Formats: sequence, structure tokens, C-alpha cells
Amino acid sequence: MRRVAAEAAVKDMLKWFSQEKGTVAILDATNSTQARRRWIAQTIGQYGIEVMFVESKCDDEDLIMSNIMEVKTTSPDYRGQDPELAAKDFRDRIRNYEKIYETITETDYTYVKLINVGTQVVINCIQDYLQSRIVYFLMNLHIKPRSIWLSRHGESMFNLAGKIGGDADLSPRGFRYSEALPEICRQAGIVPEQNVTVWTSTMKRTIQTAQHLPYNKLQWKALDELDSGTCDGLTYEEIEEQYPEDFRARDDDKYNYRYRGGESYRDLVIRLEPIIMEMERQENVMVVTHQAVIRCIYAYFMNVPQDRSPWMEIPLHTLIKLTPKAYGTKEERFKANIPAVSTFRPKYSSAKHQETDSPDVNELSVKMNV
Ligand code: F6P
Repeated sequence: MRRVAAEAAVKDMLKWFSQEKGTVAILDATNSTQARRRWIAQTIGQYGIEVMFVESKCDDEDLIMSNIMEVKTTSPDYRGQDPELAAKDFRDRIRNYEKIYETITETDYTYVKLINVGTQVVINCIQDYLQSRIVYFLMNLHIKPRSIWLSRHGESMFNLAGKIGGDADLSPRGFRYSEALPEICRQAGIVPEQNVTVWTSTMKRTIQTAQHLPYNKLQWKALDELDSGTCDGLTYEEIEEQYPEDFRARDDDKYNYRYRGGESYRDLVIRLEPIIMEMERQENVMVVTHQAVIRCIYAYFMNVPQDRSPWMEIPLHTLIKLTPKAYGTKEERFKANIPAVSTFRPKYSSAKHQETDSPDVNELSVKMNV
């Protein structure tokens, strides 16, 4: 039955490569015998597809226990089950694997072996750029509990005027948000002992927003807002008037559209690679940045498809807390009761930046999505 399941998965994957123009596939299975690996390498190799094996081996009892705790509480395999029984089942699974496990040593295969979550890393036959990036990525992963807090800068003078880009100061309401932010962070679980670092862009509005936060700060050029090139400083209505074809083309394919002399969301994602790598390496990080940048970071952690990511609503004056878990990321939103315009523009509209409802109670609201 196992063999039949493995064959079905490989068949599915090959179909995806040939019929749906797939480029990189992950065959998620234990593949813990030499015979199974040989079968995979031969079957897939016939089609000219390069194979890279990734083995994660753990014999550190503390790590195994913390992994069991995490998995039994979040794995779809154990949903609704008694945690004690789930933990026992998981230990039995490990014992069963131990009986047949043959660690990867085949010198003719490309592989990376992570021992005790990257304490030791063994690599073999790494031959190209993508493989070396995968090794680098895997070396940066850790499984310590951590959260990432994301906030846009407070409302800016450009937001009020409906203009995009620029390097404007905060509006008076934006400054109020920066004053409120330390308390919102406290409510969102950031405590001084956590050793949080605050990352901002190099633009005035994010630096001003973070100014009262009592944590170490770091400015990153890579966190600057999407470069809108010749449209920088214009309103959406002016862009529609002056560059009607570009305006339309952007809405047709917002992820790939590149502003004249500026960037596309695709460019931005590439610019953010070192940020993402560093976020994976770090434990607790707070990032104060811009609408488009937060969309990309959020999409990475929440697994939002490329075409949808540029259309997500990321409101001003809201702190988003993301807590990555083994099977998904937990999201909480903390909204400051300080009104701000909405800078969200729906597809094919030239709507001005809108005034949002101004709440009259000074409380925080929390939303949970798992
Ligand atoms: O309006 C605020 C802003 O951060 C602009 O500076 C930026 O060009 C825009 O949002 C990005 O959002 P969108 O990709 O939806 O135009």
C-alpha cells in the first residue's frame, strides 16, 4: 500500500511537471531507505528532472519532545484527538521509522542532511544556484517559538493627500499612532525581555512611527516602499489620467506590472529575499514598513497566492502579529482606535483614499485567523 501511494504521488508530480509546466516540486515523504531513493532518482531522472534529497535527522531528546508537543497540537493528523494518545502515536511512528531507516550517504546524489535542526549540516553534490539557495534557506530555519509583528507606518501627509510614494512626514493622526504603538505592542505580547528588534525602512514615515518603541532599531533600504518610478508623488486619479494604458495594465496583472522607471511586486519580492532569510533566522522581530512590502511579507508567511497578494487589504494603524507554527501561521490583529484614511484601491477603480469610520472608544480589537 505504501508503494502504491508513493507511485501515485510521483505520477501526480510528473503530470504536474509535464502538463502544468511546473518547475519545482516537493515530494514530501520519508524515503528512508536506499532502495526507495534509488527508485525515486531513477523514475524522476528519466524525465530530465534534477533530484535533490533533503533529510532532517534528529536524535536530541529535547528537540524530539518539543516537536511532538508542537505537532500533536497543530497537525491535521491529530486534530480533535487526546494529546496523550497523539504523543504516544507519534513516538510509535518514530520507532517504526527507526527500524527501516538508512541515513542518506549515497555520494552520487545531491543531498542536504540537517542534523538536529541545523546544528550540523552535511551537503553533497550541490551543483547549481537553486540548490545552493535551498541549502542556505534550510540552514537559516529554526523551530524555536517566535512571532513576527508587522505594522505599516502611521498615516502620512501623502496618505491624506491620496498621493503614492514620496518621503512624507506622518500626519498628526500618524504621530498619535506612533505614540500609541508601545502600548499596542505590549498588548500584542511584546515584552522587553524578549529582545525584540524593530526593523524600519529608510523612509521618514516608518522611522517616525517607530520612534517611541523602546527596542533596538535597524533601518533596511530593502524595506522601502515599492518604487513607483515616474508615478511617484501622483494620486491614482492622476496616474489614470496621465498614463491610462499603464493604469489599466497594472490592474490586469498587478503582480507583474512594473512602473515606468520603478518596480513590480515581483521585483519587490526578489528585493525582500534577504529580509525573509533574516526573519527566518531571527526569533522575535517587529517590522514597521509600507503597504506593498507588508503584503509581500504577509503573503510569504500566510501562503497567499502571487496574483492575490497585491490586492490584500492591509489597513493603517493596525498591528499584525504572525506566529509561525508547524502547520500554518496564526494571525492576530490589534487595531488602534486612531482613525486613518484607507489607502486601499479595489481593482479597476480610481477611488480616492477614503476616510475610515472613526471609532470613539479607545480600545484594541483582536482578530484571530488560523
Ligand atoms: O498609498 C500608500 C502606498 O504605500 C503607496 O506609497 C504605494 O505606491 C502603494 O501604497 C502601494 O499599493 P498599491 O500597490 O495597491 O498601489
